[in-house]
Amino acid sequence: MCGIIGYISKEKGVSKKIIHNLKKLEYRGYDSSGICLLKGNTFLVKKSVGEISNLEKKLDFDDDFNCGIAHTRWATHGKVSLKNTHPHLSQDHCWAVVHNGIIENFLELSEFLKTQCVTLKSETDTETIVALMALLKGNDNIKKLNEVTTMLVGSFAICLLHKSEQVLYVARRHSPLYVAKNDTSCMVSSDPVTFGEDFETYYALPDDCIAKVTVDKIDVYDKDMNKVCVSASEVGSFEKSAELGKYSFYAEKEISEIPKVVDTILSNYKIVDHFKKINKTFFRQIKKVKLIGCGTAYHACLMGAKYIQDYAHIEAQGYIASEFRYSKPLIDKHTLCIFVSQSGETADTLLSLELAKSKGAKTLAVVNVPYSSIAQKADVVLPLCAGMEVAVMSTKAYNAMLLVLKLLATHLSKFSETPQNIDYTELKKVNYFKDVQKIDQITNLVLKSEKVFFIGRGEDYICALEAGLKLKEITYINCVSIPSGELKHGTLSLVDNKSLVFVIATDQNLLAKNISSASEIKARGGKIVLVTNLDDVQCKDIDYVYHFDKITPKLSSIISIIPFQVLAYKTCLKLGYSPDKPRNLAKSVTVE
Ligand code: M6R
Repeated sequence: MCGIIGYISKEKGVSKKIIHNLKKLEYRGYDSSGICLLKGNTFLVKKSVGEISNLEKKLDFDDDFNCGIAHTRWATHGKVSLKNTHPHLSQDHCWAVVHNGIIENFLELSEFLKTQCVTLKSETDTETIVALMALLKGNDNIKKLNEVTTMLVGSFAICLLHKSEQVLYVARRHSPLYVAKNDTSCMVSSDPVTFGEDFETYYALPDDCIAKVTVDKIDVYDKDMNKVCVSASEVGSFEKSAELGKYSFYAEKEISEIPKVVDTILSNYKIVDHFKKINKTFFRQIKKVKLIGCGTAYHACLMGAKYIQDYAHIEAQGYIASEFRYSKPLIDKHTLCIFVSQSGETADTLLSLELAKSKGAKTLAVVNVPYSSIAQKADVVLPLCAGMEVAVMSTKAYNAMLLVLKLLATHLSKFSETPQNIDYTELKKVNYFKDVQKIDQITNLVLKSEKVFFIGRGEDYICALEAGLKLKEITYINCVSIPSGELKHGTLSLVDNKSLVFVIATDQNLLAKNISSASEIKARGGKIVLVTNLDDVQCKDIDYVYHFDKITPKLSSIISIIPFQVLAYKTCLKLGYSPDKPRNLAKSVTVE
């Protein structure tokens, strides 16, 4: 979603630095971008709709700037237009602002501003921030910022410039914001991924704090204007792992990294033993487990719930975070709430975590981004070790979520009467991409069909859900995922000779049932692709069988999704769409 860059330097050339770093935020999704540069006592503002390269073309002047702020906008309040693109200026042109998040009381603030004869030019909630700043009297700008933040309801990360000062004023509530410093410059960013080239350390601005950033120092204050000491974090390998290398697209790169990610998790959890680091009492007296996430992470929650219930015999259930938050969940100190998120910033998941904490539950985060808000707020963190994921379509992070949740379930089983003994080294031997070139043929079947269905039972049904999400997300093909047993209860009426049905079958005990579902589909004229790693599947009704590599049934759910990740990617390319940046979607959904 939206991204913020602020840059202040002793050296000129800041506009190029800003654009270079703004491009590193492209992966988060955006529909317009803008920059405000400060020179003398005036702002130079440029905005454009669409790609950042459009904005770059407008910066055809000497880059003799030392200070500026910029933004990638993902429209929430007001349509995609130049007028609504950030930065926004105050009516007197003294203040410029860029903002991530949502100001929930923006209508009330607009009404108040009308009484002060301030007319807002855009449809955004953001413009109210600079309008309020401009109304306040006096010269102490950091105090003014403190006063304005107390008037704002909602979530925000903001970076402001005043036309007469080489200072970046920043503030945050719920939305993340970071500041880095070296000998010559300071940079404000909503994502530490941008710091890799020029900075070795950075500071996470604490929640509900504001800061004054000059080229020489960063002063952070809490709500009561007390100075706050913030410790620095190293810019680590995670922040540097976003290079595309030899690949054409991040989606391709990230799918190809799955075996490496599995290896990293297995060795990392062996060396560090994350479970040993957790206080022994943490897992005691847990009566139920709730796993909460959105989208792909929610599918991982469904799978994790199965693992935990099957191995540890504790009642476990997966929840969609945006539903969980409003469901008055029955949770107490004997409930373990697990929050699963690649980004660690998904608003609904984060707010669900806060709800669970307020009810006294034990909270555990399974996250990829180590410095994320969810990682910081949960009692215990299990890292995904997947390296940075850039493509909006989540792939390697999903496989990582399943593996980490399986390791957790195996660990929890030690407290039960039937401790599990799983040979994870099988994951080092399996061929993750066996026969993937054959998927090209299946892609053609997808493109010839009018309707696509994914069906399965048990873990394979969850795989069907995730397979459907992958395909629709980047190919815009409408598809349906349902449990095989539900076909006859409604969806079968959709099946005709223009339908393609993927039957996923990895459980020998359920194979016969899946085959009979296939026959029902065939009888209605549908085409069937069976995706399996079982031997000797005999069924005349199946049009195409795709075999992925054999592995012990206990581990097959970790790899059974790979053919579908590849299928979505290949179909997307054939349709000529961008696999990394699907329309209307953002990598990290930081607003509700
Ligand atoms: O960062 P998170 O894992 O919390 O994100 C949750 C979903 O927004 C995300 O998984 C989304 O469904 C993916 N784009 C799907 O590929």
